[in-house]
Amino acid sequence: MINVELKLDLSRSKAYFDEARNYSPQGAPDAKGWKQDLFYIERAKGNRLWDLDGNEYIDYNAGAGPIILGHSYDELDEAVIQTIRNVGVQVAHPHTIEVDLTKKLREIIPCAEQTAFCNAGTDTLQYAVRMARTYTGRSKVVKFEGGYHGWSDGLAISTNPDLSTAGPSSRPNAVADTAGVLPAILENTIVLPYNDLDTASERLEREKNNIACVIVEPIIQGHAILPKPGFLEGLQDLCNSCDIPLVLDEIITGFRHDLGGLQSKWGIKADMAVYGKSMANGYVISAVTGKEKYISTLSPDGPAFFSGTYNGNPVSSAASLKTIEILGRDGFYERLYKLGDLLRGGINQAIRRLGINAVCYGYGSTWGIFFDSTPPSNYRDVVFQNEAGGAEKGAAYARYMLNHGIFIQPSRPARAFLYAAHSEDDIQHTIDAATAFFADHASALK
Ligand SMILES: Cc1ncc(COP(=O)(O)O)c(C=O)c1O
Repeated sequence: MINVELKLDLSRSKAYFDEARNYSPQGAPDAKGWKQDLFYIERAKGNRLWDLDGNEYIDYNAGAGPIILGHSYDELDEAVIQTIRNVGVQVAHPHTIEVDLTKKLREIIPCAEQTAFCNAGTDTLQYAVRMARTYTGRSKVVKFEGGYHGWSDGLAISTNPDLSTAGPSSRPNAVADTAGVLPAILENTIVLPYNDLDTASERLEREKNNIACVIVEPIIQGHAILPKPGFLEGLQDLCNSCDIPLVLDEIITGFRHDLGGLQSKWGIKADMAVYGKSMANGYVISAVTGKEKYISTLSPDGPAFFSGTYNGNPVSSAASLKTIEILGRDGFYERLYKLGDLLRGGINQAIRRLGINAVCYGYGSTWGIFFDSTPPSNYRDVVFQNEAGGAEKGAAYARYMLNHGIFIQPSRPARAFLYAAHSEDDIQHTIDAATAFFADHASALK
């Protein structure tokens, strides 16, 4: 049992929370559900957050992933302000900025023959499924246990299933993440273990005539699970041979790891792919892209109804174009990857030196600490490790870092994000704080 006492004064946030929860269930309409050390943000700029009590934090939550440049990035905000002044905020009518953005996406994303814009990631995935069902005439959707594809009834399935209901690891049950999901949806969802090509092969071959699409995150970021070498390529080949569209969920990985997403960086050939988050550094936009034969099923020409009041609005489109311009500048991603290596390398050095049973891992600008010596390769590994004390150690680590002015989401200590506004000094401070945590609690962490 690791006991880390909170040393910060969060009293104003606490009082605010006590009042705010009278008005919305979680004390904030957008609360992300973390209970430990909740604070209200007063301001975000660069890589810093300031809370109601005046505490300052180095931020590694990145607004749940979208922030890739930094908070309130002046050059981007200026482009948005010009668009507001010269074009307008919302027209719900064709305009040239959204078309310019579709052209740009075709240039940089391998499968983006055509694109449709939405607002949230959840929207895009629902459309991807609708198009896949329309095109193939089949009903079942394949997803991987632990993967997150938004909150819709159709896809909020087996993201965090309790193992008492999740079934055998090689043939997981489809378990609803939420109340209110109709049994018919579960019956039409096939859940597979991530990183297990043999099981995927057996199931896809057997059920291919009923499967509308396979959806996969190239990295299961919510649980920080990386693909084994060959897994995504094998899945792509399998989908090809079974004639099932492969939908790559790049809501987090897109624009974070490469302009064209991991699809481009790792050479994965998707039939459709969805993007959001870092696509506009926090401005609200998402995109479903893919081969023309799928995207053209959307209305008005196709039978798959497509709508959304704010889809492709001028502000979001301009924000995305400007973000992409900045991300495309020389050395942008090289620096981000270097920062990631520096951070993971520094923390792993401390782990080895102090003999701690943990590993800092991730890819590119994502990083996190897993309190076991081997990173997870599927959802069950994450659960076993959490149950063996990892969840408690992770929460203690997040609080310790908070005491040192570093914000890592307490419920997701393995899912942290770097972005361009972080400096090498911030990284050194973070390595030093993590090292102090390991040293102070070494006996409980070995
Ligand atoms: C991989 C992935 N897909 C889809 C979504 C849903 O996106 P949104 O929250 O914008 O609806 C998320 C959100 O975190 C995500 O991480």
